Amino acid sequence: MKQLNERYIKESKMQIDEQWTSINKLKDDDALKDWEAFKVSPYFYRITTWDPATNGLRYLKILLYNLGSRLTPQQFNFLSNIKNRTVGNPNTVTIEGEELCYDYLQSVYEITTLFKLIDLNNRNILEIGAGYGRTCHAILSNAECRSYTIVDLEERISVSRPYLKKVLDSSDYEKITFTPITNFDNLKEKRFDLTIQIDGFNEMVKGVVENYINFINTNSLNFYVKNPVGKYRNTEVRDTAHDAHTIDRALNSGIITDFIDINNNREIAEASRNFTTVFKPSERWELVHESWAPPVSHCWESFFKKINEE
Ligand SMILES: C[S@@+](CC[C@H](N)C(=O)[O-])C[C@H]1O[C@@H](n2cnc3c(N)ncnc32)[C@H](O)[C@@H]1O
Repeated sequence: MKQLNERYIKESKMQIDEQWTSINKLKDDDALKDWEAFKVSPYFYRITTWDPATNGLRYLKILLYNLGSRLTPQQFNFLSNIKNRTVGNPNTVTIEGEELCYDYLQSVYEITTLFKLIDLNNRNILEIGAGYGRTCHAILSNAECRSYTIVDLEERISVSRPYLKKVLDSSDYEKITFTPITNFDNLKEKRFDLTIQIDGFNEMVKGVVENYINFINTNSLNFYVKNPVGKYRNTEVRDTAHDAHTIDRALNSGIITDFIDINNNREIAEASRNFTTVFKPSERWELVHESWAPPVSHCWESFFKKINEE
């Protein structure tokens, strides 16, 4: 019977493409007995098209494509004002002629929130922990700030300084002051209209974060913070054993150390209450905005304003 079937298939117009012949061989009948692991089996991932292990970069691009297609005209305008975004050759998709990478997508979201809440023209901004400088790049490309101060580790400034010099016009670049943490005391007498911290308070020693929040309480009028609402174990990443020490440090740093399920929106919303309490500089401040900060499920953003001081 089997032979007859094979002959029929061979001789008729119902030939099977070779890729399917090899996929057919992958089927392990045991996998279907209790259905325990069917939907994570190699066979399953061959008859579907979305194995997360092999599609990592494609998923990133699918995400960018989806979110990029939903940007508003105002957000496209923010994006196109940020020149030289492709320095460093990031992974991008192209939407309406604009190349979009993950970092500048985040920056566009962040400034969409910020510009609704505060006019940054002629203002003095402080950013704590700026990474390679994407936020500074996005803000200075979209607002005529008076000054932009970055406080960071010396090692990071050795990256953000040349990056920002390369991507910004010289008139914007000259507005930036780079302050390594060892010179932080030099800022004691300075006043800022806005302090920004994105994705860094979760990675610093608790006392350091408290010190920064005290500084903001005294020296800043507004405070934008975007960070994870809790700690999580990287269960989706398979090979983490080689990095056990770093992971252990990451799980213990910052002032929010509660574990949450980052794939559960109710747990995230619950944890956000603690987030807004912990980052409120003092009773002299009011929370004027808070929300989930897409695309990362467990990132939250809050904007606090000092009461009666402008
Ligand atoms: C994950 S990166 C985020 C960078 C950037 N905000 C972004 O979202 O792309 C964390 C940043 O915090 C900085 N950082 C770590 N410890 C710090 C400290 N004690 N004071 C200031 N910045 C610090 C790191 O150097 C890095 O720039």
